[in-house]
Amino acid sequence: NYYAILMAGGVGSRFWPVSTQDFPKQFHDMLGTGDTLIQKTFQRLSLLIPTENIFILTNAMYKDLVFQQLPEVTERQVLLEPAMRNTAPCILYASLKIQKENPDAVMIVAPSDHWIEDEEKFTQNVQQAFDFCETNDALMTLGIQPTFPNTGYGYIEYDKSSNASIKPVQQFREKPDYETAKSFISQGNFLWNAGIFMWSVKSVVKAFQFHQPQLFDLFEKGINIYNTDDEALFIAENYGNSENISVDYAIMESSENVYVLPAEFDWNDLGTWGSLYDKLEKDQNQNAVVNARTLVDDASGNMIRTKGDKIVVVDGLKDYIIIDKDEVLLIFPKSKEQDIKQVLQKVKNKF
Ligand code: GDD
Ligand code: MG
Repeated sequence: NYYAILMAGGVGSRFWPVSTQDFPKQFHDMLGTGDTLIQKTFQRLSLLIPTENIFILTNAMYKDLVFQQLPEVTERQVLLEPAMRNTAPCILYASLKIQKENPDAVMIVAPSDHWIEDEEKFTQNVQQAFDFCETNDALMTLGIQPTFPNTGYGYIEYDKSSNASIKPVQQFREKPDYETAKSFISQGNFLWNAGIFMWSVKSVVKAFQFHQPQLFDLFEKGINIYNTDDEALFIAENYGNSENISVDYAIMESSENVYVLPAEFDWNDLGTWGSLYDKLEKDQNQNAVVNARTLVDDASGNMIRTKGDKIVVVDGLKDYIIIDKDEVLLIFPKSKEQDIKQVLQKVKNKF
């Protein structure tokens, strides 16, 4: 009864120039391990989920990339979105499909771009959550101990008085402002949302029906024709009419039956070059290097990546991102890494 939804439709623009709209980060070997992020995620999920029950959700333009990188998946497992509408519509679409196939399914929803080293602990935690979801009407998340007031994450307030490992959630707040995030952290009983969800298909469909009736009605009309030739037509005609909203805002913030299991594994949302730098091995000067052979002098804290094997000489640079890729060379201070999104826009306008 175990199923997974692997979300792989984001663009990852802060990883430009490696990640682009045509070829986003989840299809790159960002860690230099020989596997792309989506391949790593698929392997991690398949430790617990039968591979034929792992559904890939992505934009139609990435269809070829998915089949090239995951040759073991079949057409049935790849759900293609004709428009980018964030995570709520794609999760509802896939959940309705899974429910039709197996009404007793218990599932995990996972992003395709996380770094998780301890796969054994990850599998144990998910198994524990699945056991809970089999017998409880629960929307489960994995919680991460926060280290600073990051405004890009969801925050989970859990019940202090509970000493069970799976705790009832009092409040789920997606992307609070800086002051709110700071006050949350100082209270001690807040965790970051890892963005990995677990629930029975029954519970998630019920949550959408209750909290997002419009979205539910839109997709529900198509339920009976799923698995027929008309499905593609239904999706092509209707998907673009969905509200553009993430699952965090759509159901997690307003649901009463949210539970959290504090994760026992190291987790990193690979969102920026700096977060990747943190996870890579460093040379004796604290430079992280992918693919290149380097000769450095008076250079430290840099994130250096070339497309293939290339000799890179760096002198006198500290805490920089140096990324070489075909027609683009980026040399940018790590401290301004969040601005790469805007830089990409300027580059598009200028060239
Ligand atoms: N299929 C599909 N379609 N996938 C999508 C889409 C879409 O339209 N939009 C985003 N995704 C995928 C991304 O590729 C990523 O793997 C995942 O969904 C999450 O989207 P993000 O855009 O990265 O979300 P976020 O980082 O802002 O916030 C979420 O993750 C945080 C932890 O990393 C939230 O769940 C936060 O609460 C959480 O803290
Ligand atoms: Mg993210």
